[in-house]
Amino acid sequence: MSGSLILAIETSCDETAVAILRSPGELLCSEIASQAQIHEVFGGVVPEVASRNHLSKIQTLLLRALEQARCLPKELDCIAATRGPGLLTSLLVGYSVAKGLAIALRKAFIGINHLEGHLLSPFFGSAHGPRPSVNLIVSGGHTLLVLMHDVGSYRLLGSTVDDAAGEAFDKVAKLLGLPYPGGPEIDRLARQGDPGRFDLPRSMLGSGDFNFSFSGLKTAVRYLLPKLQGDFVADVCASFQAAVVDVLVRKTIRAAKASGVDLVTVSGGVSCNSSLRFEIEKATREAGLKLKLAEPVLCTDNATMIAYAAAERFSRGYRSDLAEDADPNLSLI
Ligand code: KG4
Ligand code: ZN
Repeated sequence: MSGSLILAIETSCDETAVAILRSPGELLCSEIASQAQIHEVFGGVVPEVASRNHLSKIQTLLLRALEQARCLPKELDCIAATRGPGLLTSLLVGYSVAKGLAIALRKAFIGINHLEGHLLSPFFGSAHGPRPSVNLIVSGGHTLLVLMHDVGSYRLLGSTVDDAAGEAFDKVAKLLGLPYPGGPEIDRLARQGDPGRFDLPRSMLGSGDFNFSFSGLKTAVRYLLPKLQGDFVADVCASFQAAVVDVLVRKTIRAAKASGVDLVTVSGGVSCNSSLRFEIEKATREAGLKLKLAEPVLCTDNATMIAYAAAERFSRGYRSDLAEDADPNLSLI
């Protein structure tokens, strides 16, 4: 018997995305319209501009997705959308369109926490689905260490007390005059740089908990830059990236050991970072832990991860109430 057909919409920030999935893991289509170029001139996401662009793109994306998946709306079993966290004016577009579809088609509706989408994304395509693990979620808005027992059963081990890791990448890139979003640019330039040239702070490494702090690191780069002359950009990128990766990897390994699980996962936009992927692979191997990294296409915002999270919840009998609002501060735990 074929699995359930899930259509998911993601519009939490500046990516308009639609995916259709046949559960548990057959992806029929995944469409993304990125607004990165539109927001680049502003050096960051402008909420009203993002919202207007979601509105103008969503219909085309939906029709294209249905066509690519060769499915009729009436064949869908469940409509899902990101409920939060994110920019409210962006969330409302995808969330309202999804609710409208669910009402018109008389289908089940599930609102998904964007962070759960990231968290579960490393399990997409795996034979046995989500299982107990320590999960590092590193995105533009969040840096979390989460202990997962099962889908929907999460314990927060730690989080950033100030800037998210991706936010630190974007802010340091801005200080260096690099385009937005800065993470991929720093990653690219760091490959030609010397990570040992500047000794930048590893904040909260000895804090005894699983929290992070990245704003001191960003400030250290701000004070360093006026003192530099000649060629320094690649070395600053490499040294900054090494400091972020060092803290993320060490705290994740410690959290896994303290929790007694044998599996570590890493997801979110920053998990695209080549140094983070290399170092966490090395560290988990040395610690005798298993590792699941989100596939690069699933690291940054996409609707596949929302469809997958919805499929996991749908199969467990979970349904959302249509009266539930989108929530820009929706918490995972
Ligand atoms: O998960 P995501 O697409 O959106 C949020 O939910 O926030 O993450 C976007 C973040 C941005 O801060 C971006 O600079 C960062 O992920 N990012 C990277 C890389 N690719 C994207 N950071 C470091 N290295 C990368 N290769
Ligand atoms: Zn995200």
